[in-house]
Formats: sequence, structure tokens, C-alpha cells
Amino acid sequence: MPSAVKSIVIIGSGNVASIFGRCFYEQGFEIRQIVSRNKDHAHSLAKDLDCHHSTHQFHRIVKDADLYLIAVKDDAIKSVVTDLPLLEGIVVHCSGATSISTLAKFQNAGIFYPLQTFTKGRNIPLQQVPFLIDGSNQKTIDTLFNLGKSISSQVYLLDDEQREKAHLIAVIFNNFINHLITLGDDLAKTYQLPSQMFNTLLKETVDKAVSLESENAQTGPAKRNDTQTIQKHLKLIEDAHHYTLLSLYQTLSKSIQERFHQAESE
Ligand SMILES: NC(=O)c1ccc[n+]([C@@H]2O[C@H](COP(=O)([O-])OP(=O)(O)OC[C@H]3O[C@@H](n4cnc5c(N)ncnc54)[C@H](OP(=O)(O)O)[C@@H]3O)[C@@H](O)[C@H]2O)c1
Repeated sequence: MPSAVKSIVIIGSGNVASIFGRCFYEQGFEIRQIVSRNKDHAHSLAKDLDCHHSTHQFHRIVKDADLYLIAVKDDAIKSVVTDLPLLEGIVVHCSGATSISTLAKFQNAGIFYPLQTFTKGRNIPLQQVPFLIDGSNQKTIDTLFNLGKSISSQVYLLDDEQREKAHLIAVIFNNFINHLITLGDDLAKTYQLPSQMFNTLLKETVDKAVSLESENAQTGPAKRNDTQTIQKHLKLIEDAHHYTLLSLYQTLSKSIQERFHQAESE
């Protein structure tokens, strides 16, 4: 195994494969090959990255790369590993929730999990993205740590258990908050209100939660215990027949009230 990564094979062609591929390419790493289930997706990403080798056949992977980066959906990692031949380079996946033991068949296995949300086409500076790494042996850990440091200012060595917990928190911070915004957008459409009217509020919500402690940043009817306002909102949501949001509104308001008004009710 080389002590420094120079050449990389990317397995997958979705959000993370594309954004990592672009970053590594721009940093001067050699993108040796793109391997992806869909032939056209593999070819298209390879073309974007000036890479002359792509395949949809996992057994046709090149054997001389320093790093194999598996960036497929979590549920497919196991079957991709089964389809791959034994490889001497380091084989990593990018999943927060998948154990390193999934890669046990490789001598040099590791994790290269970016704690950020990626959507193809968005330009995310990886320099500020925390990378949570792990490795099956010290040399792999050192190599992945140095690779992480070459593209980012934050690299953390975390085992499976710690990484799964970090991933759970990431799902709450990103996936759930984003879904609440989608539900809010649905309501804005129902009421024919321009959704861009809420953009400043959305940005300040996140900025404030980051700069103050989120608990200190909380405002609103549930925090104030304005029960009449809460009842009005519930009626509005009910009238819009938005029953998913109705139940979320009730659950979240109750959670806020319990946090801020527990002492009053005791
Ligand atoms: N997106 C994020 O924000 C983010 C952040 C951190 C970590 N991750 C991790 O990064 C990995 C990739 O996520 P992503 O968001 O890039 O996914 P994605 O955009 O949905 O892309 C999924 C990729 O998986 C491949 N794939 C799907 N089913 C497959 C199967 N049965 N066999 C082989 N390949 C299959 C697809 O290949 P084809 O296109 O060729 O079909 C596609 O390239 C996941 O482990 C995820 O947990 C994602």
C-alpha cells in the first residue's frame, strides 16, 4: 500500500462521487477510472473529469490505484463489495451509517465520511467540510488522515459507533430541518404566499442557532406558551388538510413547551 494517495478510482456516479471527483481532479489527483452500475452515468462522470476509463462492470476495475472510493447508496455497498475483486490499494466508503466491517475482505479498508450535505451541481468547498475517517490498520488511518488534511481543515478519527451517532445528528440537523422547510413551502403555495419572502428568516434561523446556543435562539408561540396562537395555527393547518404537518406541529410544539415550561406545570 502506498503511503500517499496519487491515483483514485471512484465507484458510483451520484452526488458524492461527482463532487469528490471534481475536488480530487482539481487538486491534481489522477482519476484512474469511474466504475458505476449505469454505463452512461459512469461514462458521463469520467468525461467531466478528463478520465479515459469507465466501466459498469465491477470485475473490470483497474487494480493499480492507490485509493478506491465507494460512493454508492448505503444499501448497495455490501453487494458492490461482493462484486469487486480483491484490491491492494485502500478501499473506503463514504457512509456515516455503514460499518467498516462491510469492507473486511480488503486488506486496507477505511472510511472517508464527509459531514456535509451534497447535491450534484452545487459547488461545496471541501476545505470547510469535516471528514470522519477510520481505517483497518494504522498505515491506512495515517494515509487517510493525510489525504483528508490535503483537502480539508477538519479531519476526525471516529470508530463505527461514534460515526453512527454523528450521522444520526447530521440527519436531524440537515434532513429533518430541510423536510420541515419543504412542508412550509407547501403551505406557502397553498396560501399563495411568495416563498422567497421567508428566505431572510430561514437564513437567520440557522445563523442564530450556530452563533448562539440553539436553546437560547428559540422564539415563537410554544416558547412563549401563547396557547391561543397555537390553536389558531392548528385550525389553519387542519383547514388546509395538511395532516402530516398537523401532527408534526403538535409534536414539536409539545416538545418546545416541555423544554421551556416544565417547571411551571410541576
Ligand atoms: N449526499 C450526501 O449529502 C451525502 C453526505 C455524506 C455521505 N453520503 C454517502 O455517500 C454515499 C453516496 O451517496 P449519494 O448521495 O452520492 O448517492 P446518490 O447521489 O443517490 O448516488 C447513488 C449511487 O449509487 C449507485 N447505486 C445505487 N444502487 C446501486 C446498486 N444496487 N448497485 C450499485 N450501485 C448502485 C448509483 O449508481 P448508478 O447511477 O450508476 O445507478 C449512484 O451512482 C452514500 O453512502 C451516502 O451515505 C452522502
